[in-house]
Amino acid sequence: MNLLPPEIEAYATSHSQPEPAVLAQLNAETHREAELPQMLSGHLQGRVLSMISWMLRPQRVLEIGTFTGYSALCLAEGLAPGGRVDTLDINPAMEARIRRFIREAGAESKVFFHLGNAMELVATLSGPFDLVFIDADKENYANYYDLVFDRVRPGGFIVADNVLWSGHVLDAPESHDSETAALHAYNKKVSADDRVEQVLLPVRDGLMIARKKG
Ligand SMILES: C[S@@+](CC[C@H](N)C(=O)[O-])C[C@H]1O[C@@H](n2cnc3c(N)ncnc32)[C@H](O)[C@@H]1O
Repeated sequence: MNLLPPEIEAYATSHSQPEPAVLAQLNAETHREAELPQMLSGHLQGRVLSMISWMLRPQRVLEIGTFTGYSALCLAEGLAPGGRVDTLDINPAMEARIRRFIREAGAESKVFFHLGNAMELVATLSGPFDLVFIDADKENYANYYDLVFDRVRPGGFIVADNVLWSGHVLDAPESHDSETAALHAYNKKVSADDRVEQVLLPVRDGLMIARKKG
């Protein structure tokens, strides 16, 4: 999943802020106990998400795809006073761990977990959002973009993870599996959308950052 040479990744990580202790614990526990721990954003991307949060000082953040809660806690770091992160996941197996780490991070008044299918839950959350982080089932990325777009404030951001999909977006289209095809379609959709300005940042597995004009 990491596209950078490992030495460069290690150098960048070691010259970035260390993980806050509670996130280091969550990272370690996820790797010890959860299936597919590589889904967790991790140290370097987590610090990127935290920095984006500090740069924006958002009031409202929506995350689609909580997993164990690592990225939600990163996104909460730079919230404006009174701000909140709403984070959604379909997998009940992670709920107790998510809630425990929200408590351990002292973020109960800032991070709100919602269990269910994001395709249904997104519509129940009103905006306007300053920042949306899309990091769930890849086949629905374009649907999530359409669902949230009108609820992102003008000047707000939609960030999507894994848009390089370990480099598979470069494979011949006839060999694309459904996730690769969906991510390639997402990248094409966002780059053709003249309502946004966008940059595809080749951090970890690729972050597509779109700013809604206005
Ligand atoms: C890549 S992980 C999220 C990683 C997390 N954002 C992080 O960086 O640590 C993707 C998550 O999306 C969730 N997911 C998949 N399909 C979903 C859906 N339809 N609705 C809500 N969550 C979904 C999975 O259960 C999984 O926990």
